[in-house]
Amino acid sequence: MQTQAHLHDIARSLVVPKKGILAADQSPGSMDKQLKALGLAPDAELRRQYRQLLFTTEGIEQYVTGVIMHDGTIRNRTDDGTQFSDLLIAKGIVPIIKVDKSTVPFTGFGNEVVTQGLDNLADRLSEYYDMGARAAKWRSVFTISDDTPTEQNIVFDCITLARYAALCQEAGIVPMVEPEVLFSGNHSLERAEAVTTQVLQKLFELLQWYNVDLEGVILKSSMVLAGSEWSEQTPASTVAEATLRTFANSVPETVPGIVFLSGGQTPQRSTENLNAIAQLEHERGDLPWQFAFSFSRGLEMPAQEAWQGKPENVSAAQAALRKRLELNSLADTGEYRTDME
Ligand code: 13P
Repeated sequence: MQTQAHLHDIARSLVVPKKGILAADQSPGSMDKQLKALGLAPDAELRRQYRQLLFTTEGIEQYVTGVIMHDGTIRNRTDDGTQFSDLLIAKGIVPIIKVDKSTVPFTGFGNEVVTQGLDNLADRLSEYYDMGARAAKWRSVFTISDDTPTEQNIVFDCITLARYAALCQEAGIVPMVEPEVLFSGNHSLERAEAVTTQVLQKLFELLQWYNVDLEGVILKSSMVLAGSEWSEQTPASTVAEATLRTFANSVPETVPGIVFLSGGQTPQRSTENLNAIAQLEHERGDLPWQFAFSFSRGLEMPAQEAWQGKPENVSAAQAALRKRLELNSLADTGEYRTDME
C-alpha cells in the first residue's frame, strides 16, 4: 500500500514538461474498428501485435510518462514472453489501467449514457496493482445538444467518478478522472465552454465531498472546442483561451496535472491546440497545473496508417509514432511549428 505522499509523487511524475501519456486503451471493439478500417481481419493476436509495436518503439520513454491499457492488453506479453507492464516499467513508464466498463443507456434520459464498472472494482484494482499499475483511468461521456447533458446525467457520472477515485487511492493507485465532453455535434465554442465548466465544477465538488485527495488525482479533459459540425474551425489561440478560462473557473489549484484527450481532432490539430495552450500558459505564468497530452487517435493514427498490419512496416510505423510523440513533446512547451510536420 502506498502512502498519500507516494500517490502525490506518482501523480506529479505523470505530468512532467515535454512528456505525455500514450492512451493505448481502446476496448477490443474500438481497436477492431480501427484495424478493420485498415482492411484487416482483427483478432486478439493482431491487437497484441499492434500494441507490441507501440510499446517496443525505441526511445518512447523520452516522451512518455505513462501508457494506458485495457484489461486484455495489460495481460499481454511480447513475443519473448515479457509482460507488457514489465516492459514499460523497465523503460521507466508507468502502466495505467482503464478500469471503467464503458457506457450503458441512462434509462429515462433519451440518448444520454452513464459509465459502469464499480462492481468488484476494489478487487480488480488490487490485481492491477500487483501487475504494476500505479494509475487508473475512468471515462464518463457527455454529449452536447440543446437539452443535454442533463444535470441528472452530470451528477450521476460525477458521483461514480468520485467513488472510483476513492477506491483507486485506497488501493495505492492514482485516479485519472476523464469526464469527456464530446467534440461531435454542432454546438458553439461558448456552449462547449459552459458545459465543460458545469461538468468540471460538479466533478470537483463531488470529488471533495467524497474525500478524494485532489493532490493525488490527474484530470483528463477535452479541449474546449466548437462542435465538429460547427460552421467554422476555431483558431488555436481561441481554443487555448477558452480551455484555460474553463479550468480557471473549475479546477482547484491542488490538482497537480491536467492531460488532454484528442477527441477526434486530426493529429495535427490536436498538436496545434496543445501548443497554443502551452504558449498561453507560459504567457500567463500563473497557472498551478502541469499540462500534458494523453492522446490515443492523435498519436496512433499515423502509426496505424504506416503499419497496415504488415510486419515489414513495423519500423515505419514506429517512426511515425516517434514523430508524433516528438511533435507533441515540443507542443507541450509551446515550441511546435506546423512546418515541422
Ligand atoms: P482520443 O485521444 O482518441 O480521444 O482518446 C483518448 C482517450 O483516452 C479516450 O478515452
